[in-house]
Amino acid sequence: MEADLLRRAARLLGDARRVVVLTGAGVSAESGVPTFRDALTGLWARFDAQRLATAEAFHADPDLVWGWYEWRRARVARAEPNPGHRAIAAIQTRVLDCTVITQNVDDLHERAGTRAPIHLHGSLFTPRCTAVPAHPATFGDTSGGPGQPHEGSRVPPPRCASCTALVRPGVVWFGEPLPETALTAAVEAAVACDLLLTVGTAGVVYPAAEIPQVAARSGATVIQVNPQPTPLDPVCAINLRGTAAQVLPALVAAAWGETDES
Ligand code: OAD
Repeated sequence: MEADLLRRAARLLGDARRVVVLTGAGVSAESGVPTFRDALTGLWARFDAQRLATAEAFHADPDLVWGWYEWRRARVARAEPNPGHRAIAAIQTRVLDCTVITQNVDDLHERAGTRAPIHLHGSLFTPRCTAVPAHPATFGDTSGGPGQPHEGSRVPPPRCASCTALVRPGVVWFGEPLPETALTAAVEAAVACDLLLTVGTAGVVYPAAEIPQVAARSGATVIQVNPQPTPLDPVCAINLRGTAAQVLPALVAAAWGETDES
């Protein structure tokens, strides 16, 4: 990554009054959480994401799909936020108006200290009743912690305590709409911001991929952090090629001096 690009990005970030940080799976990669497209590895490799992350898949084989999400939840519970997550939390302490929007279903932003991240695709930690969304749902008898299912194993989902319908993961599946409140808040923040930092997203899943474009159309500067080119490159004023855990602490340090991270 060129030092000059980092300095330019840091100047823009340091001067911005309203900032949005949009993250994708890449921000959690250095915490050991596989990116979505790498998630179907090991024993899960024989499955197709479309077979696991849909309502149809859950109805056809709830134990298989619940087992996959329990495996992912256990893996995330063992992971720790990385310097990228912590740098994003640091940006939020330095910029008065800073909204963090994530496509990730993990809780690593929260554990790094980010306030109220908007979860566009739901969360691994908020299961819900398949029949009545308002019913409180739990993970069943896992004593408060995630199960530790073996990779590739089937786990029967718990039943709702109120109506006995199956409990499902609290994530957005392919073909499902995004939670309306989250999407509205994300779009409003994108329209109002003067700088949007997009980190670790392939920029191919809509409507999340629209958010940097909304910000750019509304006059914001968009900066991207990703080791690879993405379809968002042309929207971005600056593309910082590197990983979140490397680039973000350096960006914060260059914008405001030393960080807690450095
Ligand atoms: P992807 O797995 O599609 O893309 C991950 C991106 O992160 C790629 O562009 C990588 O180059 C980049 N990347 C990898 N390691 C990185 C690192 N250490 N630092 C920074 N970037 C890194 O993940 P998303 O774009 O988040 O949706 O995927 C979006 C959505 O697609 C997911 O939320 C999921 C999936 O369908 C749903 O489940 C609804």
